[in-house]
Amino acid sequence: MTKLKRVLDGIVDTRRHHVYEAAQRVLNRIPMERARALQFEWLMVPFPKYAYGMQKAAALASALDLPGFTAIEFGVAGGNGLVAMEQHAARLSSDLGLSIDVVGFDLAIGMPPATGYKDLTYRWSEGDFAMDEQALRNRLSTAQLILGDVSDTVPDYRPYSPIGFISFDLDYYSSTLAALQVVEGRHWDNWLPRINAYFDDLRTIEWVGERQAITEWNARHDDRKVGQVKGIRDSVFSGPAWAEKMFEIHLFEHPVYGKEIGSADWVGSFAERARSKPTLRLRPVPEDSFRAQQLSRARVRAGLQTPLRSEEPF
Ligand SMILES: C[S@@+](CC[C@H](N)C(=O)[O-])C[C@H]1O[C@@H](n2cnc3c(N)ncnc32)[C@H](O)[C@@H]1O
Repeated sequence: MTKLKRVLDGIVDTRRHHVYEAAQRVLNRIPMERARALQFEWLMVPFPKYAYGMQKAAALASALDLPGFTAIEFGVAGGNGLVAMEQHAARLSSDLGLSIDVVGFDLAIGMPPATGYKDLTYRWSEGDFAMDEQALRNRLSTAQLILGDVSDTVPDYRPYSPIGFISFDLDYYSSTLAALQVVEGRHWDNWLPRINAYFDDLRTIEWVGERQAITEWNARHDDRKVGQVKGIRDSVFSGPAWAEKMFEIHLFEHPVYGKEIGSADWVGSFAERARSKPTLRLRPVPEDSFRAQQLSRARVRAGLQTPLRSEEPF
């Protein structure tokens, strides 16, 4: 047994550099930038719900030939969501040549006093989620931070580019209803005709919290509505729980509401993308990339085509 082990150790020892060199060859051939692009495309990133909503907004902006859009987070707190939003915006900007403005609204000193039972006083307390403003600003590079109570800051707010994605994470009914004012008025340039929205705090009954704010806002408006989008869970690879928190705000009288875009803003799993043939291609696979060669080899094995010219024999 010891003799056999010595022989095996000897073989491993003499072959170790071959194994190391082979591993290095493989690693060198994986383009990390491409891997990161794929992770984003397949929503394998922090805050995938934001990535999903922003991809859809990007697809819609592109389909409408618009140069970009604004993504907003209502309720920033420590800032992990806003930092992720900024990263998603950077990726979409570089991949699609869009200009994406990222904006975060927060009170900074934590939750304000509740206005009544609809604010779920049994769950949240005044002062919860206070922000370390300086620490957050050090982590941000391009995002705009608008600090103050949303009932004061939102009515005067004008976006630089049409709003395409909003995350509502203010917890309270009263704060959410105040934030929804960002979709009021008739300045059509302020919005894409359909805004993708994420509501974080739906785990309650419809008479309180965010759900009550949505009901009240809808009751106040005939020309625009916010509603949950069904069927996302089936179309996203991992079937995530956040799918049921994805909404859209439709502005029926927006000048380009009815402009035909087909399924251009469908975003989903790889299979879904292939089926729907969306116009959103986050980045074409370069011919000489590792992924293209893998695909080519698989196709050759399946008898579908000859290898790429640049490919080494295998
Ligand atoms: C749950 S935290 C947000 C967490 C954050 N989205 C994240 O993913 O890390 C809720 C935030 O909403 C903010 N907020 C609630 N009501 C507000 C109001 N009326 N005006 C401004 N900010 C408010 C609070 O200050 C708090 O920071």
